[in-house]
Amino acid sequence: MINYRISPGGKLSGRFSVPGDKSISHRALMLSAIAEGQSRITGFLDGEDTLATMAVFRAMGVEIQHSADNEVIVDGVGMQGLSSPATALNLGNSGTSVRLLSGLLAGLGIECELVGDESLMSRPMQRIVDPLQKMHALITCSEDGTLPIHIKGGASLTAIDYEMPVASAQLKSSLLLAALNANGRTCIHESVATRDHTERMLKQFAYQIECEGSTISLTGGGILKATDIEVPADISSAAFFIVGACIADESDIIIENVGINPNRDTVIHILKAMGANITLLDEKVVSGEPVADIRVKSSELHGIEIPESLVPGAIDEFPAIMVAAACAEGKTRLTGAGELRIKESDRIAAIANGLQILGIDVDEQPDGMTVTGGKIAGGEINSFTDHRIAMAFAIAALNASAPIMVKDCANVETSFPGFVAVAKTAGLDLVVEEQV
Ligand code: S3P
Repeated sequence: MINYRISPGGKLSGRFSVPGDKSISHRALMLSAIAEGQSRITGFLDGEDTLATMAVFRAMGVEIQHSADNEVIVDGVGMQGLSSPATALNLGNSGTSVRLLSGLLAGLGIECELVGDESLMSRPMQRIVDPLQKMHALITCSEDGTLPIHIKGGASLTAIDYEMPVASAQLKSSLLLAALNANGRTCIHESVATRDHTERMLKQFAYQIECEGSTISLTGGGILKATDIEVPADISSAAFFIVGACIADESDIIIENVGINPNRDTVIHILKAMGANITLLDEKVVSGEPVADIRVKSSELHGIEIPESLVPGAIDEFPAIMVAAACAEGKTRLTGAGELRIKESDRIAAIANGLQILGIDVDEQPDGMTVTGGKIAGGEINSFTDHRIAMAFAIAALNASAPIMVKDCANVETSFPGFVAVAKTAGLDLVVEEQV
């Protein structure tokens, strides 16, 4: 078991970068694999989750070259070129892999079984399986709505007109990927916008897709043309340092080339509403996605009521945001965030547990929590093997009065390989301890 021991206090400074965006890296691999021709992906996230997606495509016969400088070259096999894998496809900890691949592979009629690690095996899959079955996909999950998922060949999918019952980009993307091989025009209606990386990237691969208001539609039966994709740095990884610089005295950092897709940059809006000193520099569009350098300085934070409409856009950033809330003056109230209970861990429980250990007053609710800002003490935190819980509590040490030990941090490798090195460069006094 790997634990982090972080000394209290210190400041963050300098200009640095964080690894590539996880959501965009998954999609770049998936679309490259089924495109016609060779695609080149740069800035790819070499994390365990995206490497699980890569291994799956290799197991289905796709030639992929992967070099140490985060460059990936994929020889696309076209829409009908994947072969059924010989053994079960293990997606490890990665919900995005399993949900997006379910739609894609069900649409293509690839016979397979999808499994994952203990956390993934217990996460809900019925929300994917139900609409895919409505499209006539031959897909099933276990009786309690979890993995393993089984897909059979020979299905002919029909387009669907679908009201999203839950704000989930994984569900939306799964259906869009299935729709590529369905007869007719699929329309998906979102009541709350979620990240639109799939829609943007399909356009990069020259596939026609319409996004009008809250409806996304595409007609099946087309082809994707190979292209080059430059993946921006992941704002979800940057978020730990954005919060870190806000809560540590005398801090001033610039995080380079971060994706600021309007459905992903909500963490910035929430923190600014709390008084954060954040500026965007050098804004541009790369491979269809907006990016910028993000400058953050020490800030006097105050608590806010987080509008429920902002929750989906910051869904992965709440472990970090709630650490900011613990350092803010007054109360911060999060509601409408029940989805956090079914992430890599029950994040509402994990955040509340960790903050309470550090002496912060937290009122846990079924769909959120109220955090009263206060003095962060030291203590021993359980990460619940969740990468984002581990990193958020490592950052909390910047404002603590005694050392923080975060237990069981190996899972940080799923989304942020090199976190410890970046954290040390930025100014965190962090030691990795191995526990046998
Ligand atoms: C993701 C969507 C979100 C997010 C996850 C990545 C994606 O999940 O939490 O980390 O890449 O589409 P939901 O779709 O379940 O909200």
